[in-house]
Order: sequence, then C-alpha cells, then structure tokens
Amino acid sequence: MDILIKNTTIVTMSNENEIIQDGFVVISGDRIAYVGEAEPEGFSYDRIIDGRNKAVLPGLMNMHTHSPMVLVRGYADDMCLQDWLFNKIFPVEAQLAPEDVYWGSTYAIMEMLRSGITSFADMYFYVNEVARAVNLSGMRACLCTGIQNGDKIGRPEKNSYLAENRRLYDEWNGRADGRISVYMGPHSVYMCEPELLYYISDLAHQLGTGIHIHVSETIKENLDCIKRYGKSPVALLDEIGLLGPKTIAAHCVHVSEEDMNILKDRGVSVAYNPTSNLKLGSGLAPIKRLLQKGINLALGTDGASSNNNLNIFEEMHLAALISKGAELDSTCVDAFEAVSMATTNGAKALGKIIMENREFNTIDSEQAIYNIKRIAARLGR
Ligand code: NI
Repeated sequence: MDILIKNTTIVTMSNENEIIQDGFVVISGDRIAYVGEAEPEGFSYDRIIDGRNKAVLPGLMNMHTHSPMVLVRGYADDMCLQDWLFNKIFPVEAQLAPEDVYWGSTYAIMEMLRSGITSFADMYFYVNEVARAVNLSGMRACLCTGIQNGDKIGRPEKNSYLAENRRLYDEWNGRADGRISVYMGPHSVYMCEPELLYYISDLAHQLGTGIHIHVSETIKENLDCIKRYGKSPVALLDEIGLLGPKTIAAHCVHVSEEDMNILKDRGVSVAYNPTSNLKLGSGLAPIKRLLQKGINLALGTDGASSNNNLNIFEEMHLAALISKGAELDSTCVDAFEAVSMATTNGAKALGKIIMENREFNTIDSEQAIYNIKRIAARLGR
C-alpha cells in the first residue's frame, strides 16, 4: 500500500536547516520510500494527501514518560516532588491492577499519536500490559520496569521489580517487528540501594541493554545523596557503572560542572522534561551548559500527572523559551535545536541514529565491583 503526500513543506532534520518546499513524500507499507522535490515515479497510490500549508517532519520522540499515569492526571497539583510522589501518587498507584495499566497506556498512546509522537521511553510496573498496548498500536517504545528496593532491601536477587524487568526483557525485547526494546529501569538513587543499582548495572551489561533512570531531579535528591554517600547522584551512578551511551538520564536539573563532564564522558543522553520540572517546582535545568558540553539532549513529558498532558510540542516551546529567558540569551536553544531535541536527539538516545565522532568511556565491571564494596563497607554492610 503506497501513500503519497504532495505539495508539502518537509523538515528532514537530516542536514542543518534543510527544508524542502512543495515536496513529495511516499510511504510504502511501513517504510518511508521517497522524500524529495520532484514527483516520484513507479508507485501506485492507494491514498493521496494534499499537504499544502502543512509540514511533514520526523516522528516526535517522548524520551521520558510513565504512560499509564494518564489515569492520575490532575490527581495532585501544587505539590513538590517528594510530597506528590510519596503521599499521593505511590499510594494510589498501589491500587492499580494490570488491566488498569493496559487501558491507561492505550489511552496515553492515543494522546501521544495525536500530538505527533511516534516513539516513547516508558517506565512503570505491570509493563507487560504496556508492551501489549504498544504492540497493538504500531508505536515504537523503549520499555522498562521502575525498579525500587521493595521489601528485600540488600537482596537484589530477590527483588520482584527487577525480576519483572528481566521477564519483560525476555518476553518483549525486539518484539513487535522490532518496535519494542526493553531497558533496565532503576527508578533513582533514592529508591534503590547501591547494591541493587550494581546488580541492575551488571545485568544490563550482560544483556547488552540500556538503562533508564531519574537523575538529580530535585535539590533534595542531591542533598540526601551527598549526605548518605558523600557524592552527587551522577558521581554515585558512575561509580556503580550505570552510566554509558545506552543510558537515558531523566531530568538532570541539578547537575554540577563535574557531573556534566561525567555525563559527557560516558556518552549519556539526558531527557529534559521542562513542564514537569516547572509543575513540581523542581527547578531549571542548565540547558545551555549541557548543550555547550555536547551532551545529547532529548525531550520528555514525564507522566501526565506531573504535566498534565503528553505533548512534545509544548515541551519544545518551553525548552526554547525557558533557556532564552533564564540565560538572558535569545540565541539559546534555537528552532533547529528545539526540533532536534524532539526528534533526532531522541533517536540518538535510543541508538537509532549512531552518534559519530564521539568517544565513550564506560567504567569496567572490576572497577565497579571495587567501588560498590567500598560503598557497602562505608554503609556498614
Ligand atoms: Ni519520571
């Protein structure tokens, strides 16, 4: 089945500022078969779309969300992250059944498709149900279980969240015609003990898969981490071997120069969630410095409950405006940069576009084991 889009403006994102006016796009089956200025030959069209006064651009990528959280949209407003999460969200999420997660994710997928999102990186629980929804929808998704300590602290091999994430990997990684990939999803340094984080890191290395984690979202997260471990979340995660080119670090609102150098060195991608960071009063991420360092910066909506929608156009809008205002610099996050964050940078984060001319350093597992033993000894374990 071939579809032609004609007379349209095409924002290819393949070369800086390349925009084709009055161009043609052919979609053949599930592939883009042609993009160009001249009308192509050799296709037979089942459908022709007049794209006049419209633009065609790559599918948008939502690189950090919790799709089933559309079910708790508007449930708790005007609260800071810790209060919102521990006193409102976690208790109500504990009531959800697998079927709720399926329908929540299905609803979220419809909402994302409506605003042009074709891929998303998701962290939740009962993720088998999210995978079912993704499979049926035709979307592309990078899924993981939000892993937290659970009631077997200090015994990672007994952790039920980790077991769920592992099962999810075995059942769904590479499935749905390759549209689903499964990462490991340690929630954050405040929800996971270092031993658990190391266990996850080791498993991700063995499976050759990536990591999706919340990092330095609030000042409290940083202060608690420094108090407990004597270092920032980024430095701690690096010691444990969790930072690499297949790591999506969501937020990074409160990162120091040193943290940013580590993120750059390890080739980590940052998922920036401006609306969520504003709504929860978490702060303004140092976007200008992250970009100057050459760190790959993608966009996310976070869950609908901290947003309250799943619209990457809104995130592009805010990402561009906040940085201009905060930095007193109208050139900061220009239009091409903003659209890159919403499209190609997301693809780079998932390894769909290979980042060239970049050298990545990853910590080796022997060093990580040594570090984790030191941390355990300091904690008296
Ligand atoms: Ni989140």
